[in-house]
This record gives sequence, C-alpha cells and structure tokens, in this order.
Amino acid sequence: DVATVQTDVVIVGAGPAGASLACFLSSYGIKGIIVDLNSTSADTPRAHITSMAAMECLRDIGLDVVADKLATKGDCMMHTRWAHSMAGREYARIYSWGNDPRRKGEYERASPCAPVDLPQTLLEPELVRYATLNGFQIRWNTEYLSFEQDADGVTAHVRDNITKVTYAVKAKYLFGADGARSKIMTQLDIPLEKHPGGGPAINVLVKADLSHLVKHRMGNLHWIMQPDREHPEFGWMSIVRMVKPWHEWMFILFPSPGSDLSRRPSKEEYLGRVKELIGDDTPAEILRVNVWNINEIVAETYSKDRVYCLGDAVHRHPPFNGLGSNTCIQDAFNLAWKIAYVMQNKAGPEILSTYSQERQPVGKSIVKRANDGFRDHAHIWNAIGITLPTLAERKALLSELATNSQVGRTSRKKLQEAIAQSEHEFHGLGIEMNQVYASSAIQADQDPSLKQTLENSDVVLYHIPSTIPGRRLPHVWLNTAVPSGLVSTIDLAGKGGFTLFTGIGGEAWKPAAAKISEQLGVPIRVYSIGFDQDYEDPYFDWMRVREIEDSGCVLCRPDRFVGWRTKAVAENAEDALGKVLKAILSK
Ligand code: FDA
Repeated sequence: DVATVQTDVVIVGAGPAGASLACFLSSYGIKGIIVDLNSTSADTPRAHITSMAAMECLRDIGLDVVADKLATKGDCMMHTRWAHSMAGREYARIYSWGNDPRRKGEYERASPCAPVDLPQTLLEPELVRYATLNGFQIRWNTEYLSFEQDADGVTAHVRDNITKVTYAVKAKYLFGADGARSKIMTQLDIPLEKHPGGGPAINVLVKADLSHLVKHRMGNLHWIMQPDREHPEFGWMSIVRMVKPWHEWMFILFPSPGSDLSRRPSKEEYLGRVKELIGDDTPAEILRVNVWNINEIVAETYSKDRVYCLGDAVHRHPPFNGLGSNTCIQDAFNLAWKIAYVMQNKAGPEILSTYSQERQPVGKSIVKRANDGFRDHAHIWNAIGITLPTLAERKALLSELATNSQVGRTSRKKLQEAIAQSEHEFHGLGIEMNQVYASSAIQADQDPSLKQTLENSDVVLYHIPSTIPGRRLPHVWLNTAVPSGLVSTIDLAGKGGFTLFTGIGGEAWKPAAAKISEQLGVPIRVYSIGFDQDYEDPYFDWMRVREIEDSGCVLCRPDRFVGWRTKAVAENAEDALGKVLKAILSK
C-alpha cells in the first residue's frame, strides 16, 4: 500500500534555497513538507558571504538578527590577500566586502543590513528551525523520486531511505531546490545554457590555529601562490578561506589544468600540501575533503506548470563574488509571496510565470559574473608568474618583481592593475543590489518625464538607488516627528503586503489604497514622508532618490521591489491604483 500525504506545498531540498523558501512561505501561513536525501543540514561550510540583499530578505521575517549573531563580520572579512604562504611574504591585498574606506559609506547607505560571513553549516539549521517551528515538516533521509501533475495539483513520490517505504505527497505546488544535480530539472527537461566549466576544485577542511599569522593582516580569503616551487598536481594554487576565526579553515586546492584526478591523493599528501601553504610549523589536522566543480550553467526557464525550481538547480557557478546562497535566498523571496498570494486568492495564477521572467535574467547575470570573477584571477596569476610552464621561468619572473628592470616594472604594473580589477569581485556592490525585474508584475513608467536611465560607469561595482519600476526599493533612514529612532524604508515595506510611499499633497492615496485593499483583499500600507508627515526625511535622502514629486507615489511589492510609481497624485487615485494592482496581481 502506498500512503498518500496531503499538504499545501512540497519542497525538495533543505539547502539555502529550499529551507529559505519554506521560511518565507511559512510567514504567509502556508504549510508544507520538505524532503531531503541527507540526514542533516550542510556538513561542510560551503558558501559564506551573506550579502545585504539576502540579509534584507531574512530581515523581513526577523532572521537577520539570528544570522548576524552567528556570523563573523567586520575586520575578519576586511581583506583578500595574495601571498606566498600564510606565514610568508605577501604579494598584494585588497579591501573586501564593504571594508574599503573609500567605499564603506556606499555600503552603509545601500541597506539597513551589513554584509556578514556566515558558513552554511550555521545558517541552514536556523532556516530549517524557523520553517519547522512555523508550519513545515521536514523529512530527512527521504529521497524524491518522481512527480506527476494535473490542473489541480502535483503528486511527488518519495522514499524514506530508513524504512525503505515509498509514499506520495499531494500538494498544490512542487519546488525543486534539489541543488546542482537536480533530478527535478532533468525530469522537467528544461534546457540548460552551459559554457565550459573551470574544472574541479578540492575543499580540504582544516583545523589549525593561524591567529598569529593573520593578526596583522586580517581577512577571510588568502590566495596562496608559490611560483618558485614545484607543486603537487592536485594543488598548484589554492585559496585559504577562513571558516571560524582563526582556527578552522577551508583550503581550496585547484588541480593543475589537465591533471588526472582519478588517483585520489592520500590524507598525508593533502596534509603535506596544507603545511606548505601555511608556511610555518603550526599544527594542522584535516577534518574533511570534498571535490566540487566550477560550473557556468543557467536554466533557460525556472518553471513548468506547477513545478518551480530555484537555487543551484537553476544556476550553477563558482563562489567568486559570493553570489551562491545569496541568490538562492533571493529566488525564494521572489517566489514565496507570489505562491502565497495565488494560494490565498489575492493574485491570479498567471503571476507565477513572472517568477522565471524576473529571476532567470538575474541568474544568468550572476553566473556570468562569478565566472568572469574567476577568469579575472588569471591576470593576477600571470603577473606573479605562476602560469609559466617551467620552474626556471617562474622563479625568474618572481624575482623580477623586486628588480629595477623593465620586466620588473611591467610585472608590477600588471599586478597592480589585475588586483584593482578584482575590486569587481570584492566590492561588487552593484551586482548584488542592482537587479532589475521586467514582467507583468512590474508596471513600467508611462510618463516619459520620469528618469529612465541610470548614469553609472560600472554596474557591477556601484549600486544605483532608484525607484524605477523593477528596481529594489532604496533604503533611506526616516524619522518620526517626535524622534523615536531612525526607521528604514526597507522596514516599512515588505512583511507580506504592498506599501505605498507618498508625501505632502498625496493625501488622496490613503483612502484610495484603503478602498483597493478591501476590494482586492490585499494589504496596502500607505506612508507619507515629509515635514510633519507619518515619517520625516531628516537627511532629505528620500527626496534625493524618490525621483517623483511630493504628491506622487512609489508602490512597493511585498518583496520590496518597486511595482509602480507615478510622478504626481493621479486625478482619480483609486482608479489608477486599482488598475495597476490588478495588472501586477494578474487579477
Ligand atoms: P544545495 O545543494 O545546498 O541543496 C540541495 C539539497 O537537495 C541537498 O540538501 C540535497 O541533499 C537535496 N537533494 C538533492 N537531490 C535530492 C533528491 N532526489 N531527494 C531529496 N533531496 C535531494 N558556494 C560558495 O559560495 N562557496 C563555496 O566555497 C562553496 N563550496 C561548496 C562545496 C561543496 C562541497 C558544495 C556541494 C557546494 C559548495 N558551494 C559553495 C555552493 C553552495 O553550497 C551552493 O550555491 C548552495 O548550497 C546552493 O543551495 P541550494 O539550496 O540551491 O542547493
């Protein structure tokens, strides 16, 4: 007998994508089941960098506080370095993750959150805990096998790998958050856009107290290159990545191009290499070894009928720029409100197609950026000489770096330029914050007098706050007339509802929003910003970024992306707002 379980939704995969989706859905009262093949959350640290964009999603349900508490931040993630060994000479360093004194202010102005360093081993259990305390059940050791769907719902067949019992889960929707080897994506037969990957990498998790080596050069990423030595094939270059300051580290080893990985190096060989990379006699112990691949893959579309995929299932790329779990969390945040609204009859089912329309281009751009970030490193390797074919050539180039010769001058210049270019990886605030959505759930400006183009020299490096529909709501600190502490626009928006921001002269939006909210059954909060309004704009920052007049409005969706704006109050505010919301909600 095959048992059948009924629930609202079924999620396959309890990684950052699946577990955060469960959290966001549960905040709308949706219940469901998560199944995962493993017997627990991530057992190796994997992705670390948690961006402000992802933190803002977690902030919507209060999880940013937990993430912030568990994370490492500030000085610990201050630099990325290039060195001969952890103990040895440093070739160069660059400020990273918002710690560049020239860019700190930009980060602070971009979000009420701060970027943090949080390994998956710490984040995932918190996500699972939140989801399971709020309406989701998790089934570990449970393998998703197949699904079928009809107009009313979807049935997923799963097997409990402890009891070997197979059962069916009937739900309204199935979510494929089943990672880079997604069975669901294969079964959906969705084409993947693939570029040749960058080959394998070996993660060696190491216990070693390196406090004395980083005390004067703090940082979470240290590229180690020894061009003047022969290297083992399995690790010609490596990144030493902080996991827990400063006694747990991930040594990421890159095998030399074309090397034979069928012979697995022994633990002693790995330890030998780790010790060379540390460069002094610090005791070290290997905890785990994992092999992973550098991919450049994005799905052409993220969904088919009642099945929606997210995370590594649809975008696979290396960790450069730290875009991995951050993109998973933002996929989930985009999807959750749409699913919840459809299930609660607040939106028509057509809105669900906007998930792929909005998130696939983001996936495509981050897959490219992460791989461009990796490719950019080749310029640094070349400048230091590690890529030269013979040891003699490598030694010669390395020694030239310190000489008053033409080769020395050229190499130093190349190194400086290549390190400067890597700012795109280590301060890529733009790639994190500049996402722009285009779909029927975004109502583009009809008014040509509204600013449409954003002047910016570099959209990967710099964040451009704007209220152009399809952009993330700019963060601005506001205050109440009787000062009670600053409040971010980010905190006024979200939390399951629409938010309309207006100002002096925009009084008509309030009754209009109340009427439309009642008519459509959708929460719409209205805040007037300005002198003596609901919130004051003490720094005039809202006035600077809002790009509309006082009486106009910016309508923000539950995921805090601008859905619509208008320059000045409409003649019939109720009609205008009703029309717009119906279009956004596919109603
Ligand atoms: P994720 O892979 O995390 O989760 C998918 C889940 O689905 C898994 O728990 C799996 O058990 C489950 N699953 C799969 N098939 C199933 C089935 N048929 N039935 C039931 N469950 C199933 N990133 C980074 O930025 N820096 C890094 O250093 C690393 N290092 C790294 C090392 C290793 C070993 C891995 C595997 C990955 C990384 N990554 C990484 C990538 C990073 O971990 C990745 O981007 C996110 O975990 C993706 O999150 P998802 O939730 O999409 O998939």
